[in-house]
Amino acid sequence: MTPPATPPRSLTAIVLAAGKGTRMRSDLPKVLHRIAGRTMLGHVLAAVQAAGAGRIAVVAEPGREDVAAEIAREAPGAQVFPQAERLGTAHAVLAARAVLETPDDDVVIAFGDTPLISAETFLRLRAPLADGAAVAVLAFESPNPTGYGRVLTEGSRVLAIREEKDASPAERAVTLCNAGLMALSGQHALTLLGRIGNDNAAGEYYLPDAVALAVAEGLSVTVVPVDEAEAQGVNDRVQLSIAEAAIQARLRRSAMLGGATLIAPETVFLSHDTILGRDVVVEPHVVFGPGVRVADGCTVRAFAHLTDTVLEAHVRIGPFVRLRGHAVLETGAELGNFVELKNAHMGPGAKAAHLTYLGDAEIGAKANIGAGTITCNYDGVLKHRTNIGAGAFIGSNSALVAPVTVGEGAYVASGSVITDDVPADAMAVARGRQAVKPGWAKLKRAALLAEKALRGGR
Ligand code: UD1
Ligand code: CA
Repeated sequence: MTPPATPPRSLTAIVLAAGKGTRMRSDLPKVLHRIAGRTMLGHVLAAVQAAGAGRIAVVAEPGREDVAAEIAREAPGAQVFPQAERLGTAHAVLAARAVLETPDDDVVIAFGDTPLISAETFLRLRAPLADGAAVAVLAFESPNPTGYGRVLTEGSRVLAIREEKDASPAERAVTLCNAGLMALSGQHALTLLGRIGNDNAAGEYYLPDAVALAVAEGLSVTVVPVDEAEAQGVNDRVQLSIAEAAIQARLRRSAMLGGATLIAPETVFLSHDTILGRDVVVEPHVVFGPGVRVADGCTVRAFAHLTDTVLEAHVRIGPFVRLRGHAVLETGAELGNFVELKNAHMGPGAKAAHLTYLGDAEIGAKANIGAGTITCNYDGVLKHRTNIGAGAFIGSNSALVAPVTVGEGAYVASGSVITDDVPADAMAVARGRQAVKPGWAKLKRAALLAEKALRGGR
């Protein structure tokens, strides 16, 4: 028999993001530091949205427009609540009191400085509430628990969480650590939070004190386990680098399981949004910045650096290329070594094999761009476009002074400086005419050797 349908409880997420994080030694608020090209706050907001949070509240330092803009970008529906004074994690949660007044909701508290928690873990943390728990805490075992709050238990019962600063030596020996995140049933959240005091070593209102208060009320408290690596908090730049490494490992693994070959995965750096298709081969030492999509069958050779770039199927690039500012290569296009593209579009099968800068440029299908070609797109004030038609041939070491158009099938002679449009199927040559003087070098050499002899051979 199927149980009677109860309306699913909605999920509210409160993300704590106030404070600079002094140990970061930065002008930037801690939660705006980036991991795999996305802010820590962005990672957390993405995870709570993926976990199905219908309502999201972010507690932030007042007046931080950079934080507000990031919240608007990553979670447009989220409400922002200012916490004027940083008086502790429980005080911060109460800054979002307005979203706690719905007793039928489940509430999860996330930290803006704990960016590796997955959507799945938020769902596991919430799950005990459906079975009647008032509080669920996320905890991990660590051989090196220094700095974390300790989860104090008696048998299988949770008693309290003790912050490091307040812990006795015996409590400090406990290795079960509080990951910081918590789920609270909407029914009890406000009452529990309202009772938390600040009588402790830091003089702060500690969110983890909700555990002892719930236990004293006879309410059920559950510990939900998580891996230490996933619970990694970021309080300084060393921990930031550890979190970065963890996310890189995840991204590389999912790229490889998705059908891309990373020959030396530990040397390839991906962004949170990098998409690599099937049978993509990435050679060692490649950096993918934000906004890169690589379609099936592409080869990215060693030492490439890509941001904001689309490679359509079977494109081959590198080694040593730099693509940025909305670069698009259509099917079968090729770039060789030392080529840079910025805001440039190459049609199917177009090629630039060596030493080239193409900026603000449109390159038609199967055009061939010779070695050393430069689009002179900037006049010191404005940027201008270069259009190169399908099948055009640009001879080596040419400068194309934009705005300029080279028509379909046209030729540009090597070493030209092209300032005027070249019609389709025409040839343009724009360089000094060659002069040849027979015997000149031989006579010159003889004269120079005679001069040297007069000077005694020096
Ligand atoms: C917290 C937990 C600790 C846990 C650890 C896990 C408390 C009191 N301690 O310690 O048990 O082991 O996380 O990483 O909760 N914040 C505010 N306003 C405040 C205080 C904090 O918004 O007034 C935010 C911070 O921006 C941060 C998060 O809450 O994102 C955690 O604060 P933090 O000071 O880093 O707590 P920890 O000392 O790491
Ligand atoms: Ca922290």
